[in-house]
Amino acid sequence: MSQPDLSPSAVAARDEKNILGTYARTPFHPRSGSGARLFDADGKAYWDLLAGIAVNALGYNHPRLVAALTEEASGLYHISNLFYHPAQGLLAEKLVAASGLTKVFFCNSGAEATEAVLKLARLKTPGRFKVVSLEESFHGRTFAAVSITGHAPYRTPFEPLVPGAEFVPANDIPALEKAVTPDTSVIMLEPIQGEGGVIPLTDEFLKAARAAADRVGALLVLDEIQCGLGRTGKLFAYEGTGIVPDAVTLAKAIGGGLPLGAVLVGPALADVIKPGQHGTTFGGNPVACRLGYEVLSVVSEPRFLAGVAELGEWFRKSLLELKARCPAIQDVRGRGLMWGIELDRPAKPLIRDLMERGFVAGTAREKVIRLLPPLVLPKEALVEFLTVLEELLTAVPVAPAEVSK
Ligand SMILES: Cc1ncc(COP(=O)(O)O)c(C=O)c1O
Repeated sequence: MSQPDLSPSAVAARDEKNILGTYARTPFHPRSGSGARLFDADGKAYWDLLAGIAVNALGYNHPRLVAALTEEASGLYHISNLFYHPAQGLLAEKLVAASGLTKVFFCNSGAEATEAVLKLARLKTPGRFKVVSLEESFHGRTFAAVSITGHAPYRTPFEPLVPGAEFVPANDIPALEKAVTPDTSVIMLEPIQGEGGVIPLTDEFLKAARAAADRVGALLVLDEIQCGLGRTGKLFAYEGTGIVPDAVTLAKAIGGGLPLGAVLVGPALADVIKPGQHGTTFGGNPVACRLGYEVLSVVSEPRFLAGVAELGEWFRKSLLELKARCPAIQDVRGRGLMWGIELDRPAKPLIRDLMERGFVAGTAREKVIRLLPPLVLPKEALVEFLTVLEELLTAVPVAPAEVSK
């Protein structure tokens, strides 16, 4: 049998013909990686500043992940949730110890973690179904998750949705306090909004959310799917804010590149569910949990977290200096290794230029460059990135007709 054509043009053509168009793919063909480096089909090297959308926290080919994957591959890499397997419990135990929360539910993705926590909340607050979340928030694409996602273009084509969602602007305490009423079941917040443009919530807002939830007996759930697991320089982004949530959702980085989601619950939700009320065939897959255990072991090391925080602080200062020199930069927002650089122009053409210069970066909304690099990124990558970004932003402006191509 002849081998399939794996040239970039053949790969792209096969995808376009056979795969539903839910993504407008960038013509980039990464084929291998090492640390924070990616290599394309022609062997060209890139610094990865996106990490598969905040998934590859330990970069590529991390020796601990490769060893764990190799070992688990010869074992039972699926057994279902009907039986016991050591991998889930070990990861759950570590998550409970690291968070101070009580129990864990495993699933396969971020959206599923959102679904699960909303179902737990329904059991805890019978008769209530109102969920207060934020404008421009993102909690996933399934029906319940998209119903509480505050970006109208993601919701409106699919209406009618799961009822009860109410959206308030990020960091608007009076609006939040007004929206939270005795029929509120959940307040759902990303401590740093990712898709919405990298918008950190203030400690005051998080504290007001905790107080509002307590006032009416609602649950405070933090979506740390994108901002959690060391990305901010703390294991959980809410650490140090002075609040304790009733639940935290995780996904992305927790599976070390395999599909894994988790809901960490505190005492309010630890005993509400009975066998048969929720479930998943694949959730908590043994290999994904084993990789999760390795990821968590590495990223929860105080020295590792301190390194992320230190690099992030240096980058914050450097970005502010760049902003002072570069009128095209309107704002820089973020913490640790999660950054949004808001421009005065669409970000997509710049992402293309950055790719040509050897950097993989993302966008958030129209004008924000979004950076979510592997947490093992060396400082030199960010030094080079800042130099190239400045060059691109101060180059002779491209004619508008060019930009819109
Ligand atoms: C904050 C947040 N919540 C939920 C999700 C949904 O996760 P998934 O794509 O794994 O369903 C994402 C994905 O980008 C996210 O960033």
